[in-house]
Amino acid sequence: MLNLILFGPPGSGKGTQAIKLAEAYDILHISTGDLFRSEMKNETELGLEAKSYMAKGKLVPDAVTIGMLRNKVESTRDVQGYIFDGFPRTINQAEALDSLLSSLGQDISGLIALEVDEQEIVDRLLLRGRDSGRADDRDESVIRKRLRVYEEETSPVFEYYDNQNKANKVNGMGTVGDIFSRLKELIDTLPR
Ligand code: AP5
Ligand code: MG
Repeated sequence: MLNLILFGPPGSGKGTQAIKLAEAYDILHISTGDLFRSEMKNETELGLEAKSYMAKGKLVPDAVTIGMLRNKVESTRDVQGYIFDGFPRTINQAEALDSLLSSLGQDISGLIALEVDEQEIVDRLLLRGRDSGRADDRDESVIRKRLRVYEEETSPVFEYYDNQNKANKVNGMGTVGDIFSRLKELIDTLPR
């Protein structure tokens, strides 16, 4: 089994690359952000709860997020691995993911952090907010808030996996194709 965490700040290209990697390695892409947006679209109770946090650029509470992730993993057991995108975002979530995988006799193969300059991130997200439009991309102050939340609450997850010798960094600047090649080169060296 190949279980990857694609890590990095908002707008670093996690979703873009995760879709390509899931296809290349035949593993399941799970994005907690996409799951929340789908719940919001269907106006479920979970979606309504997540909406207020997402609109402000805050994290949805761990209990809600971990429960949703666990349901998704437990209902998709016939896969060859997972690529987690936007999860885990807190140490609590990382511990919950490790114990979930361990209960299934599995573990994380590696975490890969995409490194992108802050100004490039803001430019990418404002562009997406203008063109197609995710509500949390339209307002620069919400984008800056998401970056602060990443620094304060999420970046410690890198150290958590670094302590397990599982954390890696990849340059996330350049074309989508170049970054994809860098990621594959690294993933081919990971244990599975
Ligand atoms: P989430 O959906 O995870 O959003 P995010 O982390 O803010 O990141 P993005 O999806 O905006 O960026 P990305 O890194 O996926 O980059 P992308 O490929 O899209 O989370 C949204 C919210 O949901 C959170 O704020 C929180 O409220 C909640 N949430 C989600 N997970 C949670 C969790 N685990 N716990 C608690 N709350 C949670 O690319 C961005 C843009 O750049 C795109 O337009 C893309 O086309 C473009 N782009 C990509 N690559 C390149 C490139 N190489 N060059 C130029 N442009 C590029
Ligand atoms: Mg994304």
